[in-house]
Amino acid sequence: MPSAPPGPKSISKELIKSAILDNDFMKNLDIGQIREIVDCMHPVENPKDSTIIKEGDVGSLVYVMEEGKVQVTKDGQLLTHMGPGKVFGELAILYNCTRTASVKGE
Ligand code: CMP
Repeated sequence: MPSAPPGPKSISKELIKSAILDNDFMKNLDIGQIREIVDCMHPVENPKDSTIIKEGDVGSLVYVMEEGKVQVTKDGQLLTHMGPGKVFGELAILYNCTRTASVKGE
């Protein structure tokens, strides 16, 4: 019996929740707020080398990385690399400021 073709990739709610609970700026949200965030997330794919977040932009999306790797830079200086299970893009939303750094797929 042939197996069913793969459907749209589903996102892991558990991965999102644990990424939020691992993030210093989001872990203290109440559980209802965390659930609302988890429920409104949807999958996006960003190609390698693409800029996902640009420093100084106005931003309204928070990301949880499911697979791959990104680099975070500020004023052209490398701050860090991040891998699966990490939240990024939370600061502009939580503090109502412009993007504090750039995030690029690698
Ligand atoms: P935001 O400012 O919305 O967009 C850029 C994101 O890069 C930021 O949220 C954080 O998620 C992340 N970021 C900014 N500065 C650092 C840092 N020093 N170390 C790790 N991640 C950072």
